[in-house]
Amino acid sequence: MPPLDASSAISTPVDLFDDAVVADPYPTYAELRALGPVVYLERAQTWALPQYASVKAALSDPDTFSSVNGLHLNPEGNQWVTANSVLATDGLEHARLKRVLSKELAPRAIKDLGDDLRARADALVAGLAERESFDAVRDLAAPYVTDVIFELMGLPDVDPGDLMKQIESVFDTFGAPNPRVYAGLPAAQAMFEFLQTVATRENVRPGSWLAAAHAAADRGEIAEHECVMTMAAYLTAGMDTTIHSIATAVHHLTADPEQWKLVRNGDASYEALFGETLRYDAPIQGFGRRVTADTKIGDVTVPAGDQVWLMFGSSGRDTDKWGPDADRFDVRRPGTDQHLALGFGAHLCAGNHLALMEFDAIFTALGKHCPNLAADPDTAPERVLNNVLRVWDRVTVRPQG
Ligand code: HEM
Repeated sequence: MPPLDASSAISTPVDLFDDAVVADPYPTYAELRALGPVVYLERAQTWALPQYASVKAALSDPDTFSSVNGLHLNPEGNQWVTANSVLATDGLEHARLKRVLSKELAPRAIKDLGDDLRARADALVAGLAERESFDAVRDLAAPYVTDVIFELMGLPDVDPGDLMKQIESVFDTFGAPNPRVYAGLPAAQAMFEFLQTVATRENVRPGSWLAAAHAAADRGEIAEHECVMTMAAYLTAGMDTTIHSIATAVHHLTADPEQWKLVRNGDASYEALFGETLRYDAPIQGFGRRVTADTKIGDVTVPAGDQVWLMFGSSGRDTDKWGPDADRFDVRRPGTDQHLALGFGAHLCAGNHLALMEFDAIFTALGKHCPNLAADPDTAPERVLNNVLRVWDRVTVRPQG
């Protein structure tokens, strides 16, 4: 075994989950990146990987950087929230669980959804275009995404409002212990109870994602408790991530009308807009892993059993990867599809094709009905603090400028 040289490691008292850091994490991320590829976070008792290269290397080596018992920076989250889920398994277990989701989310499975997604977006945006102003979160992204995902999941009629709050809190449980983590744990419990009592075989729509999860359990491909975790994966992974990335794109395009013009005129594709939005402001700012063997990162050996925090949000602003203007939002930036905000490798986001289709549908409709879309000068955008999600409370815009 190589000698542990953790003494040569740089450690910092920075709390990544502190309110002020969560509100504007990018200056702190720049400080951490300058310290090296791996930095010890004293409060979280975890190694942070702030640079693009170190995050990508860890994602490329799931045998060493395990998702089992490693995603959350607190034991309760690892034991009660994601254990036995597709996110928190490795190797063959992970492949078996992912197969059930991928069958529904692969490009060939969703290729016929395009017309429906565009029609829904068109109808919603045509209505919003009549207003003097609207909120890109509550009026646009949230109703659109919940409508689409609840329909595909085959959920019976439920009030999306309550569920959305719960799901947002579930993301809080990934952080290092703080009040948001402990408020999130009961929310996760409530979400599982909802799935167990409401999303039953009898209640879900035949032919839907959830019906397919139940059918996989009936065939013995997954166990009953894994079925609940599979349903939870759709619910947690597929909603806030997309909602807040749409709102982020609206915010940046209206903050810089030149960028909106490029997108509206087709000089930058919706795919480029999607990539640049996720690079600039990763909806999930970080997730953990547990190191399975003493592992050298730069000059430091991280001991087996320790956790690392993969800083997706920081990796998107790394000037070594993106150049000196990494802090600028630019839909013409080359290579934005190389961002890590959808993960990479074995755990690459299963819903990335669907998220892009939703983006395409929304911005096609905005280009058609709101060509002069502009920020509302009377209402500043506001955020909600979350341990890992970049959540918008509101992004108010004027559809006709
Ligand atoms: C812009 C929107 C989205 C973002 C930013 C996003 C982000 C991510 C990230 C970072 C991961 C990797 C986690 C890791 O490596 O530990 C992931 C995994 C996952 N995502 Fe997404 N996601 C988005 C949309 C969706 C949608 C729409 C769905 C499904 C409806 C979805 C389903 C999943 C699933 C099932 C996984 C687990 C994959 C695995 O563990 O192998 N995501 N997502």
